[in-house]
Amino acid sequence: MSLKNKVLQILEENRSSCISGQQMAEKFNVSRAAVWKAIEALRKEGYEIHSTPNKGYQLFASSDILSKEAIKHFLKKEYRAFDVFVYDTIDSTNNAAKKIAVDGAAEGSIIIADTQTAGRGRMGRSFYSPAQSGIYMSVILRPKTDISDTVLLTTAAGVATCRAIEKVCKKSCAIKWLNDIYIEEKKVCGILTEAMTNCETGRVDSIVVGIGVNFKTPPDAFPKEIQPRAGSIYTDEKPAVTRSQLIAQIINELMDIYETFTQREFLKEYKSRSFVLGKQISYFAQNNWHEALAIDISKDGGLIVQDAAGNVSTLHSGEISLRNIR
Ligand code: BTN
Repeated sequence: MSLKNKVLQILEENRSSCISGQQMAEKFNVSRAAVWKAIEALRKEGYEIHSTPNKGYQLFASSDILSKEAIKHFLKKEYRAFDVFVYDTIDSTNNAAKKIAVDGAAEGSIIIADTQTAGRGRMGRSFYSPAQSGIYMSVILRPKTDISDTVLLTTAAGVATCRAIEKVCKKSCAIKWLNDIYIEEKKVCGILTEAMTNCETGRVDSIVVGIGVNFKTPPDAFPKEIQPRAGSIYTDEKPAVTRSQLIAQIINELMDIYETFTQREFLKEYKSRSFVLGKQISYFAQNNWHEALAIDISKDGGLIVQDAAGNVSTLHSGEISLRNIR
C-alpha cells in the first residue's frame, strides 16, 4: 500500500481524534516530511484534512470522498478481505461487475462509483447517478442455487439495505415490491439484480446485485419526470454519516443475510416492510395493465395478488404501481 493510502487509512480509522505527523512517521517508518507530502496529495484529491498545531491531522466529519480505505474500515472483520474497487466515473457498476465476474472475480467483490454515466434501472430504464451525492454499488455473489432464487436474493438485498439505512442514518424504510426502498413516500433506493448462467450446466454462475441509493441529492436536482416520486435519505439536513459508512453497512447486512438466505428467515421482515400488501395495485403483464389486490409475499419473494373475480396469481417479475405511487 502506498504511503498516501496508509495515511488515509489511519485518518479514516481515527476520524474523531487528531493524529500527529510524528505518530504517523514512526508508525510507517518514514520522515515527517514524507507524511506531510502524503497529506498534501490527499488534500489535492479533495480530502478535507484539518491540521491543528501541536496536535496533528484530522479528517473533517463532512469529508465524504469514497475510498476503499474508508469502506473497509466499516466492514465487519469477516468481510474485510473482499476486493473493493472504487471508481470516480464508470458507465455502470453492474456492467463492470458482470465483466469481472465472467473473468472469475471472487464472491464478495464490490464495485463502487462516485458517478455513473449509464446507470441502469429495472425494466430497461436508466438510473440517475449524479456525482458526490449518491451510492452506486454492485456486489458479486456466487450462490449454489437455482436461477429461481434470484428474486429471493433481490428481496434479501432490499431487507439488507433497509436495515443498513436504519442503523446508519436512523431513518425508517419501507419496501415497494419488488425492490424499491421508500422513505416518507419517496423512492430513495432501487436494486437491479442480474444473473449470469452457465449454459452447459443451466445453473447460476454468478449474480450481480446492483444497489443505487440517493444519499443527499437535492430534490430539484432530479430529472423533472422523476421529481414527484424521487427522494434522498438526506434532503434538508446535512448527513451525519458518510456514504462509505452506509456502503459498508449495506455489505455487512447483505452478507449476513446471504449466509442463510435459502432458509428465508428475512422474508418475514420483507413482508412487514412491504407497504403494498392489502392495497389495490396495477401490474403490467401480457401487454396489458391489470388491477388486483396485493395479498401476500410468496416463499420465493413473488407478489401474490387477487383479481376482482377472486383469481389468485403470483408475480415474479415486472413492475407494479399503486394508485398514488408509480
Ligand atoms: C431501479 O430502481 O430500477 C433499479 C436501480 C438500480 C441502480 C443501481 S446503481 C448501481 C448499479 N449499477 C447500475 O447500472 N444499476 C445499479
